[in-house]
Amino acid sequence: MIYLDNGATSLYKPPSVKKAMLWAMENCGNPGRGGYPTAMAAAETVYRCRETAAELFDCMPEQVVLTPGCTFGLNMAIRTLVAPGDRVVITGFEHNAVTRPLHILGAKVTVAGRKLFRWDEMLENWEKQLNHGADAAVFTHVSNVFGYILPVEEMADMCRKRGIPFIMDAAQSAGVLPVSLKKLGADFIAIPGHKGLLGPQGTGILLCGRLPKPLTAGGTGSESENQFMPDFLPDIGEAGTPNVPGIAGLGAAMDFICGEGTKRIFRVEHEAMACCAEGLRKMGVRVFAGEHQAATVSFLPAGDCEETARALAERGIALRAGLHCAPLAHESAGTLKTGTVRVSFGRDASFAQVERFLEELQGVF
Ligand code: ALA
Repeated sequence: MIYLDNGATSLYKPPSVKKAMLWAMENCGNPGRGGYPTAMAAAETVYRCRETAAELFDCMPEQVVLTPGCTFGLNMAIRTLVAPGDRVVITGFEHNAVTRPLHILGAKVTVAGRKLFRWDEMLENWEKQLNHGADAAVFTHVSNVFGYILPVEEMADMCRKRGIPFIMDAAQSAGVLPVSLKKLGADFIAIPGHKGLLGPQGTGILLCGRLPKPLTAGGTGSESENQFMPDFLPDIGEAGTPNVPGIAGLGAAMDFICGEGTKRIFRVEHEAMACCAEGLRKMGVRVFAGEHQAATVSFLPAGDCEETARALAERGIALRAGLHCAPLAHESAGTLKTGTVRVSFGRDASFAQVERFLEELQGVF
């Protein structure tokens, strides 16, 4: 099988991830809940993961809240910054993990920037909407559907200058592009463990530039006599026994990323994406490609998207078609009715993968 659905999850993890998870299952007790060796081993494992994340994302270890995933982190961040009726500015490329919590909270959402790969249009509209006043802003780093890399540093700068708190969704960028909490000055950055970071599913990180409002309350192993959640990081965001095997795997995965370097990973994935986009163009299908693109490319096949993906699956090509849980992004690109077929490369990207994919697609047409 040629796996081209890394936007959904990375399938091939470094062997050290599985090894670390198995080790944790055999050797870790409950972290922060005892002074005996297995409890201490768990506490050290969790702390090492926090330290590696702090190194990778340029922040203090205590600013790393370990979550069950990016969606959980986004919900916590949104619930911290947004109250019902608040005006929130978002981009036209947000995922349901951002738009649904905002909708459910009853926020007044304004969409700024809807043209694919057009930084000028994004920045002009972003500034215009922020100037109308906003209680908060949320933006994705990279569109999960189109691989569009947004001008997040400039967008963050515009928010900071106006004192507007903001959240960045790094679901498709962490592990592939540089992400710095310090440089961005974000209130929160939400990250999944299982995509570009190459960790296991059920893990994630919320980088906290301020104290979050906890989504869940419970034991933390600290301040047990206090009937509110501790008012310090990271405990305020981490109720209950953590997923220690998952966290061990995530720590090992981030060690791997630190060793490889995000620059090298990006280069390999981007080369494959560009080659794939070019091949698709030559086949005469409509391809969504441009400047500022990561390792994901969407296209419109001659036939139905879902059927094309099914036919490709039968030929050993794994990818995702449809709306990709991001109807807003499709609305922006004019593909809400059709959806798209999405090809998203991972760290194993190669020209051989592209060649085989194009060959099989030709067979489907
Ligand atoms: N958000 C993930 C995707 O884009 C699941 O496929």
